[in-house]
Amino acid sequence: MRVFVFMCFTLLTLTGCKNNEKGVTNENISGEVLFTEMQCTTCHLPSQKIVGSSILQMKNAYLNEENSIADFLNGEAEPIIDPSQYAIMKINIEETKKRTPQERKAIEAYIMGFK
Ligand code: HEC
Repeated sequence: MRVFVFMCFTLLTLTGCKNNEKGVTNENISGEVLFTEMQCTTCHLPSQKIVGSSILQMKNAYLNEENSIADFLNGEAEPIIDPSQYAIMKINIEETKKRTPQERKAIEAYIMGFK
């Protein structure tokens, strides 16, 4: 557990630095790059459920959903897929909340456009 926390911290520091280098011009942000950089892939695989649901599951769940993934990633919407597991995801919400609205939208676009 301690190693995991340390790794998270290191990653945060690294991604934080990268952000500064890039500045805040977000016109060409890639949701796919963010999804990988922010380590979402650790728990969310393309089509197989591991710790979290697969990207395809998330896409399908949000197809007819009023709230958006971007809202969820900003802590503004309740989880809809498996709320009982939300605690594991919650720490990531703290990170996605720190991102810009464009970045959250880019992640959403990546998930919703996933094939
Ligand atoms: C430590 C594992 C873990 C990481 C890392 C992680 N998630 Fe999750 N995520 C979960 C779990 C567990 C759930 C709740 C069960 C489910 O719906 O899959 C979840 C749920 C979700 C949901 C569904 C919300 C809903 O309405 O039910 C989305 C979207 C999501 N995560 C996106 C992300 C994004 C984007 C990242 C990266 C910034 C990320 N996750 C990183 C574990 C993780």
